[in-house]
Amino acid sequence: MDEAKNHRILVAKRGGPHVLEVVAEDVPEPGPGEVRVKTLAAGVSSYDVMLRRHWFPGVKLPYTPGEDVVGLVDKLGDGVSNLEIGQRVSVWTFGEAGGYTEFICTPADWAVPVPPGLDSSEAVALVVNYLTASLAMHQMAGVQSGERIVAHGAAGGVGSALVQLGTLAGLEVYGTASAHNHELVESLGATPIDYRNQDFVARIHQLTGDGVDVVFDVIGGGRQLWRSYRALRKGGRLIMLGMAGAIRGGIKIIPPSMLVVGLVKILPNGKTAPLGPGMETYPKEHMDWYRDSLAEFFELATTDRMRPVIAERFPLLEASRAHEFIERGRYAGKVVLTADA
Ligand SMILES: NC(=O)c1ccc[n+]([C@@H]2O[C@H](COP(=O)([O-])OP(=O)(O)OC[C@H]3O[C@@H](n4cnc5c(N)ncnc54)[C@H](OP(=O)(O)O)[C@@H]3O)[C@@H](O)[C@H]2O)c1
Repeated sequence: MDEAKNHRILVAKRGGPHVLEVVAEDVPEPGPGEVRVKTLAAGVSSYDVMLRRHWFPGVKLPYTPGEDVVGLVDKLGDGVSNLEIGQRVSVWTFGEAGGYTEFICTPADWAVPVPPGLDSSEAVALVVNYLTASLAMHQMAGVQSGERIVAHGAAGGVGSALVQLGTLAGLEVYGTASAHNHELVESLGATPIDYRNQDFVARIHQLTGDGVDVVFDVIGGGRQLWRSYRALRKGGRLIMLGMAGAIRGGIKIIPPSMLVVGLVKILPNGKTAPLGPGMETYPKEHMDWYRDSLAEFFELATTDRMRPVIAERFPLLEASRAHEFIERGRYAGKVVLTADA
């Protein structure tokens, strides 16, 4: 392998994990106001798998997958004075992908210092999933201490973040997961519900009486969202956060999902389904929120008050193995690609 090159993963056509190819190119140069970061850890998610398999609006081929990176600042662009060469930082790509790469150039504002003592894989696991969970809980749902919530996919990346941040915020948390993940979900602070073998709506009503205040639904699909709606008590909020169901079902699950959300908005029973503010716009318009939230997550992790769950680590250039691993299912937490310093 040519050491002087940047190696990154490219998706040039849709398909199975084998379409993830390694390309070598010149190491990118940071523009004014940017820094170049040498990757130590890059996050992989089921969203990356979904985009690789299915056509989604706005995603053009070829592209490099990946939304979050932790690495060392390696070069400063003109005008950058808030970071130093060698400093370890985390970067979210603000929805623009490009994380599976040995070097990434990013606006200096998007690079948030990672404190010593925090493992790079753990730090990268705290980026997009925890930002999404925090935005959903506080800005979309406006949760109040003491409220009850359901986090679907509670052993997954976003779901486990919802459980941990929800518990820290003083919420009563119920988490749906396969039975083999229940011990983990319980250890994170939630009451687990076996969505495969139990009717989660009936179980929620059995456990709570009148239902929960908020359901965070990362699964999507018309039937799933309607059942989430039925788990709400009067005045509850349904937060549609993702479409994990689209890994198998593709984009055909989107229209019925939107139909249910629209219906919840107009049914006269006080329940609502707020759709925003979302990760597409909110962090860019609130850079302080973005930077302060990450700094807070890192502080919580270094002081052992909240540890992200790492499912598995793979070498950066073996991203196809990481995608195969996700497609096999039966994992919990965040999958991470690692590279040498
Ligand atoms: N809105 C945003 O900005 C944003 C940001 C990040 C991610 N997302 C979206 O959120 C979704 C989840 O992402 P992720 O990274 O957390 O995925 P993930 O780590 O793969 O977790 C998904 C989890 O869903 C569980 N699951 C599957 N079917 C289920 C069902 N019917 N009921 C309950 N749980 C079920 C699986 O748990 P078991 O193994 O326990 O069955 C799995 O752990 C994706 O669609 C992603 O695109 C959205």
